[in-house]
Amino acid sequence: MIFEILTLFPGMFIGPLNESIVGKARERSLVHVRVHNIRDYAFDRHQVTDDRPFGGGEGMVMKPEPIVRALEGLQREFPAPHVVLMSPQGRLFNQRIARELSRLPRVALICGRYEGVDERVGMYYAQDEISIGDYVLTGGELAAMVLVDAVTRLIPGVLGNAESASMESFSESVLEYPQYTRPQVFEGHAVPEILLSGHHEAIRRWRRGQALLRTKVRRPDLFDRFEPTAEDLQLLREAEEEDERIRGSGYPGC
Ligand code: ADE
Repeated sequence: MIFEILTLFPGMFIGPLNESIVGKARERSLVHVRVHNIRDYAFDRHQVTDDRPFGGGEGMVMKPEPIVRALEGLQREFPAPHVVLMSPQGRLFNQRIARELSRLPRVALICGRYEGVDERVGMYYAQDEISIGDYVLTGGELAAMVLVDAVTRLIPGVLGNAESASMESFSESVLEYPQYTRPQVFEGHAVPEILLSGHHEAIRRWRRGQALLRTKVRRPDLFDRFEPTAEDLQLLREAEEEDERIRGSGYPGC
């Protein structure tokens, strides 16, 4: 997978994409991230990349020419990239879209700045417009990094087997179950006893119940779309009963 990032702030990408799993995936050539400075494609004397909005109004708008010139350079290479404009007006990014993008060979991400990008870029030169959430960032750079991170971990070979098995949780719209590690008691707070029991089937059932309960309480929107099995309903009921019981003892609940 090749990511082509078009930005006015290439320096922002140095830390996040060189560390940890994405950094290792790049070292192993499982992904390539190429960062292009849009200013290098502004050919006027002052390398201007923004201008005042037609019709008046506050702020500046990114000009189309430098972005489109940068894209044209990329489109001369094979395979042509799937062009995405990062913008708060785009379709809302989620695990399904991450999976969709992870199957493409090459993706170009245009990072907007200022009050926005000339509308013609999104209309005629991008195939896709993506938002990472209903809030406005100062630019598309952080959004692009979120997308690169979420997509990279889905590329075969990037995660180890154990990690990739657990990543399936969101694909069926259920949140992860709670995880614990040593110490068994931390500042008086004990790990749920069942996890120490060694009964794999009982642990599996408990975890499933906890995952369902969390989803129901924290993300009713996900839960409404989910189709529980008869076993799920039973495990959810058990988790709710346990939650009721331990709430009485001062536990803050799921
Ligand atoms: N640029 C500014 N805000 C954004 C958001 N929420 N998602 C994607 N790009 C953005």
